[in-house]
Amino acid sequence: MTQVSAVPSAAPSSEPPPQMQDRAVIMRLMFGAWLQQALYVAAKLDVADALADGPRDIEALAGEVGADPTALARFLRALVSAGVFAEPSPGRFELNGPAEYLRSSVPNTHKYIAILHGEEAYAACAEVLHTAHTGRPAFDVVYGKPYFSYIAGDPKARATFDAAMGRETAVPLVVAQCDFGAEGTVVDVGGGVGALLAAVLVDRPGLTGVLFDLPESSDAAREHLAGLGLAARVRVVGGTAFDSVPAGGDVYTISRVLHDFDDEQVLTILGNVRSAMSPSARLMVFDALLTERPGFNPGRMADLGMLMVLGGRYRTEAEMRDLLSRAGFRVTEVRHARDADPRAESVLEAVPA
Ligand SMILES: C[S@@+](CC[C@H](N)C(=O)[O-])C[C@H]1O[C@@H](n2cnc3c(N)ncnc32)[C@H](O)[C@@H]1O
Repeated sequence: MTQVSAVPSAAPSSEPPPQMQDRAVIMRLMFGAWLQQALYVAAKLDVADALADGPRDIEALAGEVGADPTALARFLRALVSAGVFAEPSPGRFELNGPAEYLRSSVPNTHKYIAILHGEEAYAACAEVLHTAHTGRPAFDVVYGKPYFSYIAGDPKARATFDAAMGRETAVPLVVAQCDFGAEGTVVDVGGGVGALLAAVLVDRPGLTGVLFDLPESSDAAREHLAGLGLAARVRVVGGTAFDSVPAGGDVYTISRVLHDFDDEQVLTILGNVRSAMSPSARLMVFDALLTERPGFNPGRMADLGMLMVLGGRYRTEAEMRDLLSRAGFRVTEVRHARDADPRAESVLEAVPA
């Protein structure tokens, strides 16, 4: 058994001894759940927005966001110690670089994903051992049904999900590297509120779109597209890709959808896309691909979320290629995100084999 030495009273250097560094790694991780909840509090109560004009005393800040001042100060100090927000003088808080990403309106805001992770997805972790023992989602045990069925019956949860999907990085950055053609129809399968279609159509007046997603997201999608002046160019179709996918597209896109599902489900979805496609149509699958990068690997964290909440998984490029091939596609090109993309999303382009 490893002997844990006591903290020396007068350390010869400011560097902690190796065992202390190891313990610090575990301690930081053990507090991860609470830290995530502190982030959730800050996001849900709009704390970063309330600090947008400069530092505030905790009393005024708490009053504005509807929090208990002492409790809010403790949440914020925990975040400050982890590098989010700053406390320039006791009881006075301000934004720093990371905290800027909790503001509502900054590009690529993480506020809405912090809220998404802090609600049902967090509560689902209470049954994590079910996932460890069975490989099945803890969410289903806690909520009695799969995630997408649950949010179908809870408009507030669905709105939280749509807000997170539409905002963090509205569209995979690698979309800019793709050739959609100048004319024809793009069918976006699992297209959410239509962020990807909007990005593609806005500069290509010869293209029209079909947004296909679960029926409960149709209203939010129509509203979003109408707000962008694209209502006339996009047909919103509600349905499930497990049954069928709208036919007639020249390009089919599936963005950030396949990681929500297990391999059998992915094969069903891809099979239905394949059936809907003409021989000349093309498919573009956008997703983050798992890599073996050393050190902290956000893909591995996101993969855990898929495991516990949805029963899905992130995949390597080889695994994606294998699924596409088994579903009757031939991969023609794989483009990887440029370094500046924090989500490291790639696109696999394929045609019917
Ligand atoms: C992670 S979101 C991705 C949204 C969007 N494509 C993007 O890139 O941000 C997954 C989407 O798949 C949709 N979805 C889930 N199950 C589906 C199904 N059976 N058929 C069609 N869409 C589905 C969800 O409603 C959601 O909008």
